[in-house]
Amino acid sequence: MAEEHPLPEASPQLVVRGGARLEGTIRVGGAKNSALKLMAATLLAEGSYRLRNVPRITDVELMSDLLRATGCAVERDGDQLTIVVPSVIEPVAPYEIVEQFRASIVVLGPMLARCGEARVALPGGDDFGPRPIDMHVRGLTELGAEFDTAHGYIHARCPNLLGARVLLEFPSVGATENLLMASVRAKGTTTIDNAAREPEIIDLCEMLNKMGAQISGAGSSTITIEGVDGADALHCADHSVVSDRIEAATYLAAVAIAGGEIIVEGARHDHMVMLCQKLGDMGMRISPDAHGIWALVPRRLRSVDCSTLPYPGLATDFKPFLVSLLATAEGVGIVTENLFSGRFRYIDELRRMGADIRTDSHHAVVRGVERLSGAPVRAHDIRAGAALLIAGLGAEGTTVVADAHHIARGYDDIAAKLRGVGADVGTS
Ligand code: UD1
Repeated sequence: MAEEHPLPEASPQLVVRGGARLEGTIRVGGAKNSALKLMAATLLAEGSYRLRNVPRITDVELMSDLLRATGCAVERDGDQLTIVVPSVIEPVAPYEIVEQFRASIVVLGPMLARCGEARVALPGGDDFGPRPIDMHVRGLTELGAEFDTAHGYIHARCPNLLGARVLLEFPSVGATENLLMASVRAKGTTTIDNAAREPEIIDLCEMLNKMGAQISGAGSSTITIEGVDGADALHCADHSVVSDRIEAATYLAAVAIAGGEIIVEGARHDHMVMLCQKLGDMGMRISPDAHGIWALVPRRLRSVDCSTLPYPGLATDFKPFLVSLLATAEGVGIVTENLFSGRFRYIDELRRMGADIRTDSHHAVVRGVERLSGAPVRAHDIRAGAALLIAGLGAEGTTVVADAHHIARGYDDIAAKLRGVGADVGTS
């Protein structure tokens, strides 16, 4: 299959000149945080899979490389990926790939289920605090897996996984996904209690069920998996990736900062109710629309307090956008981070643009200023980078976001999409 639309070169920096109002329609693609897991799920059974609505982002390329390292063939045609999984795969996730993105840990469950063992390099990824995998390990141990760690790799073994009741200490997205993908081939029934409830979990369960798995309860805190044992129990499937609520949130925050009226086409209001509620509290007019979400910013927004929580709470991934937004809102807003301790680093960059923000442990106190002023800043991770870019939309003068390759890990040409609704964003 031909590579008709090669990925755009990740530009080293993005340049935004503030002041333009946003008007028009901006389209969101498939969710990064789902596509990567759906790709990992293909390792469970031999065959030719077609995934549609797959975002053209670096992390998908990295996951493609990881699948290739196991013996799969992966080809892209537009927003479609074809993944051919052979009858025998190599259950190893090499360090050179894993160190570049943490989501690679989700190959652990499917490899273990398919091959009875998995060797996965310990993950790297985003630069925000320690991100342990103890819940993944504990849960898989309940299913009978044994682990040891040596030379930077975690080695899991279990020739015959057995269904079990697993109670997660916290509704971890990654641990829920690894447990789902391991237990679909375990003997007997598995119950995951305090499971993550994100739309991306539901998407993964839908794909696994198309592959022959028997999963019920996805989207609730208790997921039940009836294991389908035997070599031919699972088979390949086609699936379209759920829309990206974090990308959608980025564009909603962009219009909130820049002013204007947009439709975020393809966005799922029902997947981001809490965020839309918050934006409404701030004075934005926002509602579901036949094509996605409609949003209008009638005046300068007012501050609110925000606290991140697992879904359906306010996602931690939305927080950098909310901080950018509060930086120019009227009043003082307190933002509390409850998931990742180190996720405040980009605030130093926002301060360089004139933001008045004080941090204390996992709280940020944001005192809105009339206007930010454009400055050179640096992206430290995907969402922080996007938050700086959209802050630049409302700033006076030019903002240059360095290390924009971080943004390309999770956004399919964000500069072009924002230009499409009138923003002055370019690359250099
Ligand atoms: C996923 C998302 C990420 C999002 C996060 C929370 C992907 C690729 N990434 O990350 O964008 O911000 O969900 O919604 O889908 N934890 C442990 N031990 C574990 C596992 C997690 O202590 O074994 C902690 C983490 O350090 C963190 C919290 O639990 O503080 C939530 O992590 P988790 O839900 O697992 O996030 P990820 O799956 O890594």
